[in-house]
Amino acid sequence: MPLPDVTSTTEPATTIDADALVVFVARTETGPRVLGDASLSELLSPGLGAVAASGAAEETVRLPAPDGIAATSILAVGVGSDTPDAESVRRAAGAALRALKTAPAIALVPPSDDDVAAAVEGAVMGAYRFDAEGLRAREGDEGARTERIRVVSTAPEADAHLARALIAAEAVWTVRDLVTTPPHALYPETFAQRVGELAADLPLEIEVLDEAALAAGGFGGILGVGQGSSRPPRLVVLRYNRHAQAPHLALVGKGITFDSGGLSLKPAASMVGMKYDMTGAATTLAATIAAAKLGLPVRITAWLCLAENMPSATAIRPNDVLTIRGGRTVEVLNTDAEGRLVMADGLVAASEERPDAIVDVATLTGAARVALGERYAGLMGDAELVSAVQRAAEATGELVWPMPLPSELRPLLATDVADIANAKPGNTAAGMLLAGVFLQEFVGRTSDEPDAPRIPWAHLDIAGPANNSGGPFGYTPKGSSGVATRLLIALAEAFGAE
Ligand code: BES
Ligand code: MN
Ligand code: ZN
Repeated sequence: MPLPDVTSTTEPATTIDADALVVFVARTETGPRVLGDASLSELLSPGLGAVAASGAAEETVRLPAPDGIAATSILAVGVGSDTPDAESVRRAAGAALRALKTAPAIALVPPSDDDVAAAVEGAVMGAYRFDAEGLRAREGDEGARTERIRVVSTAPEADAHLARALIAAEAVWTVRDLVTTPPHALYPETFAQRVGELAADLPLEIEVLDEAALAAGGFGGILGVGQGSSRPPRLVVLRYNRHAQAPHLALVGKGITFDSGGLSLKPAASMVGMKYDMTGAATTLAATIAAAKLGLPVRITAWLCLAENMPSATAIRPNDVLTIRGGRTVEVLNTDAEGRLVMADGLVAASEERPDAIVDVATLTGAARVALGERYAGLMGDAELVSAVQRAAEATGELVWPMPLPSELRPLLATDVADIANAKPGNTAAGMLLAGVFLQEFVGRTSDEPDAPRIPWAHLDIAGPANNSGGPFGYTPKGSSGVATRLLIALAEAFGAE
């Protein structure tokens, strides 16, 4: 479905004709105060106190517009502080757009000229609706959607900030759309087709490796995980290569279009929701598309490791040994630890090009969700790159938490028949870290010298925050969140600026 049309205007907020005028409200000692426009504040602030609005973060109140305002209604949303940070503005804008059930055309008054990007990003993310043909809208998605947003700002750079914010928010929509699409419709082959559609007309090269190409290339992890399904696996390589001399960032995404667990079958209740197991691939895809749209001075290669993990007579068995790209062998002790198998191929292939850094994104472990809940992603890897990811996340308001990769865990994956096992049966200790330790093994070196340093690598386990199972908050709806998409874009921007 189309994004809302977003434009800026220098027209005074009071004279704009709209179904709703969205204003941000601070909580102050003297009561709620509308930010961003002095005459608006004078007209609206006293009335807000009368309807018991407080200006608390994400509180929303809809009122008929008073005399002196051309819009039909006012949607006042709290931001807490009278000097809100970018994330407060994003969240408030998102909450406002979720609260607007019927307002096709709105105008939005950012708290200050510096908040245009945050307000647009939050508003557009909050306006998200999933509507695929033949499917019902999601809970809370009913009602007319906002089709047109005018952002009131006289800042000279408003349009540039608006355009960038729109591209970032659109990337989040792309992830949510792909993840929410049911697994009968989105499987490796159709996912690869969608990549083609989404990347059309952009400066991107796409290569799709089908099962024959995967076999020829020795991608035993992706093939092994996919062999139980009637829908064969794919590896999609998406290249943004416009600036030949620019730093090269590789992104590797877990793309399990449905994770049943395979022969190590998940219990019924744990299987529900496992269409989301391709979120990492969708995230790397959407961030790469955004980088291309923004024309960032970086090179990005995204590796989308797509397979459906199903039990069948052709599925991999516990004790099977798979040969990962490059020759290392893995004994499969649990077919439900499939993400690391496809990611191993992706990391090896990404490493062969000797990029300047590799970031992988995966809904890798239930343990990450147990440890960090549904708001924080687990972040592991090399210190410098981990810091860069943290800085990017700080800028985008996404939550990551650094985790160790303890080498003493490696012996848990020892096996007599292969180089490494994919799991330790019965082990529940440090499941997120053990998965990270497994992945680390497949990150290549910066040169052919045997003791050359490893390529800088960071691993994001988004198993928790990729899906919001609670109620919507800020700009995050129930269901797929699109988390980590914007931080990858911010990381690519920072990388290009180096
Ligand atoms: N896709 C799951 C991770 C997952 C599990 C996310 C539950 C959210 C909730 C992954 O493929 C998986 O099944 N991991 C196993 C690993 C285990 C078998 C070592 C897990 O976490 O239980
Ligand atoms: Mn699994
Ligand atoms: Zn999985």
